Amino acid sequence: MMKRGSWRTRFGFYLLAVGSACGLGNLWRFPYVVGENGGGAFILLYVFMALAIGAPMLIAELMLGKNTRRSVMVATKMMGQHSHPAFKWVGRLAVIMSLVVLSYYAVISGWVLHFMTQFFVALFVDGEGAASKTNLAALMSNGWLQLMLASAHILITVVVVVKGVQEGLEKWISYMMPLFATLVVLLLVKSFSLPSTPEVLRFLFYPDFSKLTLSSLNHALGHVFFTLSVGFGTMVTFGSYMREEDHVPTAGFRVALVDTLISLLAVVMIFPVAFQASNVPLTDPALMFEVLPRYLLGIPGGALFGLAFFVCLYMAALNASIGLLEVVVSNLVDRNKEMVRGPATWWSGGVALILTILPALSSSILKGVRIAGKSLIESLDSLLINWLLPLVALGILWAFYKGISEKEKETSFVDRDKFVSYSMYSHWIFVLKWAAPGVIILGFVLQIIALLK
Ligand code: PFF
Repeated sequence: MMKRGSWRTRFGFYLLAVGSACGLGNLWRFPYVVGENGGGAFILLYVFMALAIGAPMLIAELMLGKNTRRSVMVATKMMGQHSHPAFKWVGRLAVIMSLVVLSYYAVISGWVLHFMTQFFVALFVDGEGAASKTNLAALMSNGWLQLMLASAHILITVVVVVKGVQEGLEKWISYMMPLFATLVVLLLVKSFSLPSTPEVLRFLFYPDFSKLTLSSLNHALGHVFFTLSVGFGTMVTFGSYMREEDHVPTAGFRVALVDTLISLLAVVMIFPVAFQASNVPLTDPALMFEVLPRYLLGIPGGALFGLAFFVCLYMAALNASIGLLEVVVSNLVDRNKEMVRGPATWWSGGVALILTILPALSSSILKGVRIAGKSLIESLDSLLINWLLPLVALGILWAFYKGISEKEKETSFVDRDKFVSYSMYSHWIFVLKWAAPGVIILGFVLQIIALLK
């Protein structure tokens, strides 16, 4: 077996896995998806799906990587040798999807970069007036600026990934996470002091099931996979770097739990501000960018808070982008023996750069291009996350389930020294075999009915 790098410490794995899971999905995407789907009942559905379906699938992906010591493309192909040749398409699709998601993730990361620099200028150069002149509408209408920012983000990501798992990623992320946690808590305390908080808590945590629609299950599942980085092959890659003694179910469950908590913190942090600014629809994908900068500039010390928030958000976006690019690179290197990590990273970054052109221009030059009433970037998001992602996640699950023997699954899952018992193992198998495929297919069926109506 090829010699493979692994994390020096267990902490290294957690940093990268949690870093990949917690990103714009939690802070930017989750709030407006909650807004679109009516609040409390959707949150309940989402949390249930994340822990009951997402976490077991995350564990399966990590185990697939750890047991094969390969990235998703080679791992699923190896599984296919035992049963079906279609498995190799699962891995290919996962990698292609990671690259396409990176290309539009870079556009949103570019927005973050923009606000971050604006707050920096407001604070240290021009006084607060400069940032108040910049709003999202001005940025949205400037396609070239968005393209430039997205390209800068891709370049930064490439430079970090080129350094490799051990020297580059582990060290880099270990500096960023504690700062990230501190900033989120500070911002949460600040926004909790707003008068709209009781109303927000009612909206977020009092479930009104009549607000759920036929599309809600599909939206909840798509977002669960996106936010847990399941279905991209990322967790297979991270699993392949795990150390022999690491216990996969414990690690997977912890990652899922932390990610879910961060999403809940994000909505509690953003919604009081969004309710205060009553003119912005809660369903707007730009919700966070619409409401937060303006609010922060209106309060004393807001420029400093704004800077802190956007630095924190940019760190999260960068962590997640590193994960996306790492999937592509590790797959290229695993598949081609002659491929060296450095050039593979630059090549992948180059392709992401070309792909980012369309989403970057979607709100300006390509504004007129609308698919079923949605902009290019929104259509891409919905096609990838609500349709393709659950399908690929199901494919990886199928490869794992069929390709790894009962015995191997059981020995990897059951840890005799810990609380994880045989009964948990049988629950896990039940979810992988019946519950997860069942709800994914049900989500698709309900979504199709909603579209036909
Ligand atoms: N989980 C990330 C988020 O919530 O923003 C998105 C993501 C990052 C998906 C990395 C996949 C991945 F490999």
